[in-house]
Formats: sequence, structure tokens, C-alpha cells
Amino acid sequence: MTLDSTSQLSSTLIRDSLTPTIREQLSSIIVHQTTSSTNDVLWRRLSDGDNSPAVCLAETQTAGRGRRGDTWQSPDSGNLYLSLFWPFVADLSQSGLSIAIGISLINTLKAEGINDLQLKWPNDVLVNRKKLAGILVESRYGKTQNTIVGIGLNFKLPTLTQDLINQPATSLQQLCSSLPCRNALAGKIIQNMIETIEHFQHRGLSDYLPLWSQYDALDNQAIKLISPEGQFIARACGINEQGELRYQRGDKIETLSNSHISIRFAS
Ligand code: BTN
Repeated sequence: MTLDSTSQLSSTLIRDSLTPTIREQLSSIIVHQTTSSTNDVLWRRLSDGDNSPAVCLAETQTAGRGRRGDTWQSPDSGNLYLSLFWPFVADLSQSGLSIAIGISLINTLKAEGINDLQLKWPNDVLVNRKKLAGILVESRYGKTQNTIVGIGLNFKLPTLTQDLINQPATSLQQLCSSLPCRNALAGKIIQNMIETIEHFQHRGLSDYLPLWSQYDALDNQAIKLISPEGQFIARACGINEQGELRYQRGDKIETLSNSHISIRFAS
């Protein structure tokens, strides 16, 4: 590993890699050594009445979470655990936003020379069917709708952690000859997330839909859909205009919105 990649998270270095406009708009970049979940830090900040734009990062999380209430393994091994609260007005579809953020994350990583990245609907960034990163979009409804987007990106997975993850996983260390600088990459991810949210609230998914097939890890694949009620096999066939997954079961096309159903490759 280079010195840069292992250096501690620094709000100053992250702020330095943002454009002046975003730097001015982003009130806080909070960095914790340890916290329960970076998403929760931002939810607590909102419930304390601070609704200015903010980012939270941590070196390790004691209760990192993924979709469907899964645990997001968050060892202190130089990974990225980051969450963004960015206020916006539109009533956003969660599947749609997840997809837009996923495409933005892949493009940010591609610009660092990381290739063969795909998105497994709605929010898993995969390389050769192994998970490199996950995106968690959480919305809560009070007087307004607030949304927090969390990203977990594996830089380095200790063997012990790898054993705890219940699906094939990978890390930048396994993919890159030299690791990107964590602070600079965090800055670029944050910058692109904000630009994506701004774009999405005006244009929805319209500019992302034509691109989806280039990113779609499930395209025309046999998939297993698993819910507490049971499981079945289907064939994935892209997404609809809301960003919901389309799949063929028998001779019927059905759709799935961002839900508690887990999806696995069936072959
Ligand atoms: C998933 O793939 O299920 C989503 C994983 C999201 C993990 C990130 S790590 C930073 C933020 N804080 C959390 O507790 N979860 C997200």
C-alpha cells in the first residue's frame, strides 16, 4: 500500500478535493475514528435540528448496516464508510436514486483506473460477481422527506472480515497494483454524489436509463429472488422508468421496487 492510501481520514484533505462551489455549500465534513453508523450520525444531527448539508466518514463502524437490515462489516482496515445528507425538494424514488448514485460511483472508480465494474440492481458494485461496494439510500418522512445516502467501499478486507461476509466480496487491494489515495477518492465520490443528486432531482432517471445496460450485472441472467416467504428463479430483464427491476417469470414480466427481497445469481 502507498502511504497516501493508508493515511488517516482527514476532513481538510477531503474538503481540498471538492470544487469551490460544493466546498462552500457543504457545511460539515465530520470524521470519526469509531461510530455506530455514519448514516446514524447524520440522522441524529437532523433530529437535533441541523438540516444543513453534511458528510460523515468513519475509520470503523460498530453497527454498520446494509440493505434489508444486513450488517455491513466495517473493520478498521482503511476502508471507506461515508454518508451524505444533501437537502433536495423532489420526492425521489429510492430505486431510481440508488441507480443514479451507483452509476456515479462506478464512473468515479473508473476514472481511477478501476475496470470491469458492474451494478447488481439496485445498489451493489461488483467486479467479476464479487462485491466491492454497497450503497444504502435511506429516506424518512417528517414535515419534509429527508434522504441520507451511505456508501461502503472495500479498500482492504482482512481474512476474518471476508469470512463474515455472506456473499463473494473483493477489495481495491485485490484489484489494483497501487491503491488510490483514500482522502482524494472520498472527495471525488462526495463531489460526484452531490452532482448526481442535483441532476437526479431535476431530470430523474431519464439520462441514466439509456446507459443502464452498460452497467447491468444481471442483464438477461437467471436470478434467484429470496424473500422470507420463499424463493423462485426468474430471468432479469433490465429496469423500468422508475428504476424498478424487471424480471420474467414463466411468460409474465413482473417488477420489483427497492424491497426486502434478496437477489442472487442462479447460475
Ligand atoms: C448494502 O450493500 O447493503 C449497502 C451497504 C452500505 C454501507 C454503508 S457504510 C457507510 C454507511 N453507514 C452504514 O451504516 N451503512 C452505509
